[in-house]
Amino acid sequence: MAIDILPRRCLRGVTPYSPGKSIASVQRELGLKYVVKLASNENPLGPSPRAMSVYRRAEKQCALYPEGASPQLRQAVARFHKLNADCVVVGNGSDELIRLLCEAFIEPDDDVVVSQYGFIRFRQQAALMGGRVLEIPMVDWTHDLQTMAMAASARTKIIFVANPNNPTGTYNSEEEVRRLLDAAPSSCLVVLDEAYCQFAAQWDDYPKSVPGLLKEYDNLVVLRTFSKVYGLAGLRVGYGLANPEILSWLDRIRMPFNVNLPAQQACTEALRDAAFVRRSVALALSGRENLSVSLRELGFAVQDGATNFLFARSPIPGRELFKALLKRGVIIRPLDEYGLSEHVRISVGNRAENRTLLGALKQVLGVAV
Ligand SMILES: Cc1ncc(COP(=O)(O)O)c(C=O)c1O
Repeated sequence: MAIDILPRRCLRGVTPYSPGKSIASVQRELGLKYVVKLASNENPLGPSPRAMSVYRRAEKQCALYPEGASPQLRQAVARFHKLNADCVVVGNGSDELIRLLCEAFIEPDDDVVVSQYGFIRFRQQAALMGGRVLEIPMVDWTHDLQTMAMAASARTKIIFVANPNNPTGTYNSEEEVRRLLDAAPSSCLVVLDEAYCQFAAQWDDYPKSVPGLLKEYDNLVVLRTFSKVYGLAGLRVGYGLANPEILSWLDRIRMPFNVNLPAQQACTEALRDAAFVRRSVALALSGRENLSVSLRELGFAVQDGATNFLFARSPIPGRELFKALLKRGVIIRPLDEYGLSEHVRISVGNRAENRTLLGALKQVLGVAV
């Protein structure tokens, strides 16, 4: 029998977010033992061992609810960034914070400015709130911040910028970001999602947003995550930094216990493990360099970028490449959901994973190994 109950109008065209395929699902579906996942920009070193030892100790407390606002982790993040604790909010991944920002600030028909190939979750979440999403074309696969600023009006609630961007891997300089912040209406939030900032920090012109820009601009929100350089994607923790007044709205509407207890404790320790972060960045950058050269030799047009993944135009359609690699136990990310049928996104793995990828690519593309 057909069901007469309709969801909200703005939900009717929504399709579920399509995450990278998991290792377990590929093993199940294709009966493969060894599967390499280079689809979600995780850390090939695994998690910080120091964070994991705290995680294991926390298991004894798992009968108890965590502290709702993650106060210990908030304090640790605040100290790490030389901010007050009320400038920090902790979320179930930075993804939760994207959602909370949209839920807290976007009324139906408010404008939200995003970039053409900017991180897809921004436009998806804004649309869920009934926002009018203005998609500004990229220039050289990079956010065009000047045009994005010009598109913002008194009706605009949020300008979303991923810096560096997923999936294109490019970043905007401090000068460009400053110009955007200067031009944006004061009634509009500028959200800088810096999920991959550690991989871009070696470039002198990469913005020093925290505490620098944050202290200067009251409408700036910076998002960070433990999922990438800290190797803790499975724990689901991210944080937002902004003016306390803005964050107080997110705090009011987040789930009461949004971050679980072992995750709060492990992430507090992860922040102290600077050596692990350095190793992770070094591995990603050297792997990125080597993989770019090899992919170019195989006919890929690899975009220069500043992340732990590569964005490249493939010699064969992206989905075809994805399927052919999957059969050989390698998971990459096709980008059809962005309307990019010729491109793929490939996370930089460890040496063995990158070797497996290249071997599989040579087979698929018919290159002599
Ligand atoms: C730009 C960007 N922002 C946010 C996220 C979400 O990260 P989290 O795992 O913290 O929810 C991702 C994940 O891929 C990302 O690429």
